Amino acid sequence: MPEKVFVSRSIPRPGLDILEAAGFRVEVNPEERVLTAEELVRSCREKAGLLCLLTDTIDRSFLDQATTLKAIATMSVGYNHIDLEAAKEKGIGVANTPGVLTDATAELTWALILAVARRIPEATRFLRGGEFTGWGPILLLGVELNGKTLGIVGAGRIGTAVGLKAAAFGMKVVYLDPGRCPELEKRAGAEKLPLERLLAEADFVTLHVPLTEETRCLIGRGELRRMKPTAFLINTSRGPVIDEEALAEALREKEIAGAGLDVYEKEPHVHPGLLTLQNVVLLPHIGSATVETRSRMAVMAAENLAAMLSGKPPKNPVPLPRN
Ligand code: DGY
Repeated sequence: MPEKVFVSRSIPRPGLDILEAAGFRVEVNPEERVLTAEELVRSCREKAGLLCLLTDTIDRSFLDQATTLKAIATMSVGYNHIDLEAAKEKGIGVANTPGVLTDATAELTWALILAVARRIPEATRFLRGGEFTGWGPILLLGVELNGKTLGIVGAGRIGTAVGLKAAAFGMKVVYLDPGRCPELEKRAGAEKLPLERLLAEADFVTLHVPLTEETRCLIGRGELRRMKPTAFLINTSRGPVIDEEALAEALREKEIAGAGLDVYEKEPHVHPGLLTLQNVVLLPHIGSATVETRSRMAVMAAENLAAMLSGKPPKNPVPLPRN
């Protein structure tokens, strides 16, 4: 009897092909929405494997009820939605999709930097609203990137990829990371700084840290006050890294110049204080949303799941907590 796997949302076809070719009976969530906790438990009945997404809550309560699961592959690099402690206790393997979304997310980070610097969404709204009556010498003035400082918080794969593109815009790079990043230092001339100095010196602060207990609310009221009033904050990592209430206030009070966000504290809910402001560009968590990257992520997640269910180590295991 072939083992059954559940895929929690419709994913690019190449991922499903891999699972089917490996001989699994594949069931895909037929709804174009995230399943409720009860629906997910029900769908995972008798399933040996789950291919899930960052929008699924894989907590202890779910794992207590999904008693047949042996392996979980998330189609995301982030795995803060999975209770790793509980998975480990139950002997469930967990894998993710690192690396393949680095360029897509780094490119979207630059799209946000350029969008906030040159007020692109605001200018589009202006034109579509019929307000463009001709070229104006002080119409929608933005700021230039050339000669400015980019502050990277978290110089892992994505942070490094963002930093390596900074030279193309003539920017200086400073960064913060628990370790040293020789590649960024050598190829982008980057300087490692403590957070307070990075916040005080950068014209654009961009966040690339995973969400952990240490990084939750890393940027709050105090940190925002350390930034220059002319600086911009960019976040393509995880929403709870920023205290959104404090950010809305800092933007409203013009304590900083603007922000570009792809992720939110209580996704998909966006702080109402942000929705009404002109100086913030808001995107619906599309960092990895390219045809190429999403296909690669689906394939990688499917290969990881197939490997784990065949008793082999997956290519991308999530390190489970040590005792
Ligand atoms: C991830 O994979 O964690 C990204 O946030 C998806 O865009």
